[in-house]
Amino acid sequence: MKKIMLLFGTRPEAVKMCPLVTELKTRSGIETVVCVSGQHRQMLTGVLSSFGVTADRNMRVMKNSQTLSSLFAAVLTGTQKALADFHPDVVAVHGDTITAFAGALACFFSGVPVAHVEAGLRTGDMRSPFPEELDRRAIALMASYNFSPTGQAAGNLIREGAAPERVWVTGNTVIDALRYTVNENYTHPELEWASGAPLVLVTAHRRESLGDTMRGMLRAVRRVALERPFVRILFPVHMNPLVRKAAEEILGDLPSVHLTGPLEVRDFHNILARARIVLTDSGGVQEEAAALGKPTLVMRDETERPEGVDAGVLRAVGTDENRIYLNFMKLLDDPQEYSSMARPCDSYGDGFACRRIADILAI
Ligand code: UD1
Ligand code: UDP
Repeated sequence: MKKIMLLFGTRPEAVKMCPLVTELKTRSGIETVVCVSGQHRQMLTGVLSSFGVTADRNMRVMKNSQTLSSLFAAVLTGTQKALADFHPDVVAVHGDTITAFAGALACFFSGVPVAHVEAGLRTGDMRSPFPEELDRRAIALMASYNFSPTGQAAGNLIREGAAPERVWVTGNTVIDALRYTVNENYTHPELEWASGAPLVLVTAHRRESLGDTMRGMLRAVRRVALERPFVRILFPVHMNPLVRKAAEEILGDLPSVHLTGPLEVRDFHNILARARIVLTDSGGVQEEAAALGKPTLVMRDETERPEGVDAGVLRAVGTDENRIYLNFMKLLDDPQEYSSMARPCDSYGDGFACRRIADILAI
């Protein structure tokens, strides 16, 4: 019996790892242990219950307005304890969070092989996304299995010196998640509110944007909302108190803008599937929106997901207020511009990434 521990702690990791938990649990010869750091609290538990996944261990590390160092230390020691208690043969971590980096480091210190899911994404800029570019590069130094979502991501790893026979192109497990969550017969009060109007979905949370940069992004949204009041703008606000404060101050008084708490993942995916335009700085939302063919303005200076930009469905517009405003207005007002971007992109996967990863881990 091979014991595989899956270690994750934030909302996006849970969305992308829960389908892998489900797949591994169907395999005979594999024992699955789910260990969550609890880097996120409410936003994590919601995803676990949406996918019907139960954690065998929750380190409950989250603190309000946590610092990277205190978070790192808590996950490092929590993982060390989990390794001592569960004795896994391999530990799968995801992407580029502090949970993934600190968890992988604890495994490395204990001599436990690391499998990196969503390996090889790079912007080439250590300050953006911060600290995620460091996290994922560091994990690559420690990983025995690198599961890359795309050929470009695999190429990045091999150029950095990863052994090609330890790198597999599997697709992104987020596309597996969409197969599970999106369905035809779906309704939601926010969709009823937006019925008959173009619905724009907005998300923003990146650490490097907190402060003036994020305020500029949100002011761009405000200007469009005031000039095009028939447009319905839904912004499920991240639980980071700094994001919530900025969103409420800049957009809170506008009747055509709904600020909600984080949506359950099934609601978010189904609303995304029915939105007209997306504005985001999220990694996962870029992949989901591209797969669903939703014209998306990426409010970041770089993206590690160039495939959707190359396909034309994502546009990296940076973080400058005026540039976001102009691009947003053009997408709303110019039907040709809109239809040139409204094309589903299959670069991020075919919905069977978990099956491929499980096949390799089972050996
Ligand atoms: C983290 C990840 C980032 C990922 C993002 C997904 C790192 C360095 N950052 O950033 O890569 O894109 O998650 O959302 O690992 N909070 C709550 N409840 C929750 C979740 C968060 O109250 O369920 C609040 C807390 O005050 C917490 C703060 O949000 O301290 C920030 O959370 P944290 O995980 O440190 O950073 P994120 O910006 O969420
Ligand atoms: N998401 C969600 N509810 C929301 C907003 C996002 O379930 O209100 C999901 C979304 O579908 C995606 C993930 O959260 O799978 C993205 O998380 P986030 O943007 O926080 O992190 P990132 O992907 O940038 O690391």
